[in-house]
Amino acid sequence: MQNTQLVISQFSDSIREATEIIERPIPKLEDHEVLIQNKFIGINALYDRELYRGRVPYIDVKFPYVFGVETVGVVVEIGKNVKSVKTGQALSTVKVGTAYQEYQIITEAEVIKIPEATPEYLTLNPTGVSAYLALNNTAELKDGETIVVSAASGGLGHIVVQLSKRKNCHVVAICGNPKKVELLKSLNACDRIINYREEDIAKVLSEEYPNKIDVGFDSVGTYMFDAFLANLAPLGRLVVSGLATELTAPKFEQINRSRVYESIYWKGASVRCFMNHLFREQQQKGREYLFDLYRKGALQVKVDPSSFEGIASIVNASEYLLAGKSCGKVVVKM
Ligand SMILES: NC(=O)c1ccc[n+]([C@@H]2O[C@H](COP(=O)([O-])OP(=O)(O)OC[C@H]3O[C@@H](n4cnc5c(N)ncnc54)[C@H](OP(=O)(O)O)[C@@H]3O)[C@@H](O)[C@H]2O)c1
Repeated sequence: MQNTQLVISQFSDSIREATEIIERPIPKLEDHEVLIQNKFIGINALYDRELYRGRVPYIDVKFPYVFGVETVGVVVEIGKNVKSVKTGQALSTVKVGTAYQEYQIITEAEVIKIPEATPEYLTLNPTGVSAYLALNNTAELKDGETIVVSAASGGLGHIVVQLSKRKNCHVVAICGNPKKVELLKSLNACDRIINYREEDIAKVLSEEYPNKIDVGFDSVGTYMFDAFLANLAPLGRLVVSGLATELTAPKFEQINRSRVYESIYWKGASVRCFMNHLFREQQQKGREYLFDLYRKGALQVKVDPSSFEGIASIVNASEYLLAGKSCGKVVVKM
């Protein structure tokens, strides 16, 4: 049986130039392995871009390199020693260098069972789990604090604002167009929504939240990071969850000013970076928490309504996310 894959075949700034679609035979299963037919694939365009530029320090990209991180799919074949799953079982998979293909093989030890292979479960794991881990382990968000979230209507952001509201926090959500504002309103989780194309972030935060941000949750970087940093509360935590503006620029912006501790030392505040794969042991707890909330109808999961279908559309989906057009999690249907 053949497997269609989107692979990185050279380094480039452009996903179109860096990638190609190839077909390879699916190897015979080892006794402890499971073959999955991918049904939906999650798009991580910003991370991918660093990969096809050859800039992820812990990944050695050897061409042709299958990329993509997360899928949901169903088991189509199992190795002869596999006991915990049967064919037809819906699974979620999360592993760098595995997702952008029709089929994939995982070991039984990697199996994550889900009730159904839907875009919503794909959003909960791993994006929702990242939101959970970043808030609990990195931000150490406490009941009733004030949190400011950038890219708040995105795949990660819309879960972050809802989990924050569940802790009775004052939630300030930042996004970039009216459609995103509407998505945020529909979550019933935001106390203040700022469309940065209509209001100046630095001005709003310094006027409405001077030294009041307990947690800044930033996925954007540059000007957003600066505005959050300037308004941290005593003991405030600024979480660097992503660097969208830096990663879409040709190189990191070089700035000339005093070191970061100047603005945080006297407040006892901190800047912390979140990296999801470093919290492997806590992921299962996050999944259980989120799946339970979702089943009970206590968490809304927003999937971008654009219809991307098939391996070839991964490139379009990626460019769409990088253009800042998406609302909710971007997925490709297989
Ligand atoms: N550290 C980790 O372990 C980890 C794990 C998961 C995700 N992340 C990061 O979290 C962020 C959100 O990821 P996601 O997959 O859920 O994406 P997303 O939020 O659904 O989409 C990206 C959003 O970022 C905002 N953005 C601002 N400047 C941008 C730029 N120059 N290029 C592209 N987007 C820009 C846009 O929203 P607005 O127009 O509303 O600003 C855009 O819609 C990303 O930065 C990602 O790298 C990090």
